[in-house]
Amino acid sequence: MASIGAPAISARKADGTPLVMVTAYDAPTARIADTAGVDMILVGDSVAMVVLGYDDTLQVTIDDMVHHTAAVARTRPGALVVGDLPWLSYHVSREETVRNAAALVRAGAGAVKLEGGAKRLESVEAILDLEIPVMGHLGLTPQSIHAFGGFKVQGKELDAAQRIVDDAVALADAGAFAIVLECVPDAVARVVTDAVDVPTIGIGAGRHCDGQVLVIHDLLGLEDRITPKFVRRYAELGRDGTDAVAAFAADVRAGRFPSAEETYHLADDVAEALGLYGAAPIDA
Ligand code: KIV
Repeated sequence: MASIGAPAISARKADGTPLVMVTAYDAPTARIADTAGVDMILVGDSVAMVVLGYDDTLQVTIDDMVHHTAAVARTRPGALVVGDLPWLSYHVSREETVRNAAALVRAGAGAVKLEGGAKRLESVEAILDLEIPVMGHLGLTPQSIHAFGGFKVQGKELDAAQRIVDDAVALADAGAFAIVLECVPDAVARVVTDAVDVPTIGIGAGRHCDGQVLVIHDLLGLEDRITPKFVRRYAELGRDGTDAVAAFAADVRAGRFPSAEETYHLADDVAEALGLYGAAPIDA
């Protein structure tokens, strides 16, 4: 199946059907997301925290992101694969920026995402010049946590809220095909959504966005070290996984695993020739 493209995602602003995006980082999570029918799969730099065990997203490199983007793309999803440009991959020079964006496309992404507004317009324009669609990301941009002093809601004061609106307009004018709004008050998300002609995709930004995104480990209940209030858990795979492994361990220790049905057997004549008959029973 051919993947949906960025222009078709932008066009969805007009029809009013909410866009759905989830993160995925490997083939199994990509298959779950795509089979569920999402519009976009974001190979987010959140992979640092929910898969690789780091405390923030600043630790992943472009090579890490290429590795995970390729794993997702190999499943050939119908959803648009958006590769996340990690910290330092679009901050140093135009040349590095375009090479890194191109590396994500060569790994199978149909678009890339980067964080920041007016400050990053040169990067956005350089990538667009390569004909690669760009998704913006404003509000709580996790690559700026040290500047923000932690994972905090952004845009609560008038100046900060206005800056987010201005940044969104600048990104849309530059040609971004969609904009993620993370952890901003719902009124700010509403003003942004009305101000731009491309879809806004919210995470912790209320219901007035054109779409919503969640980290798949959060919605599946696989990550419980940090649970922001905007996360809704639709499954408890972490708890169910622990119960399953504990049941396996108990079966092994009690001699209940493997059963005869879970075992490969020799034909009787071969077993006999091997001298097994008369020895200890093998299926008891
Ligand atoms: O990396 C990520 O998962 C993200 C989403 C939170 C939007 O950027």
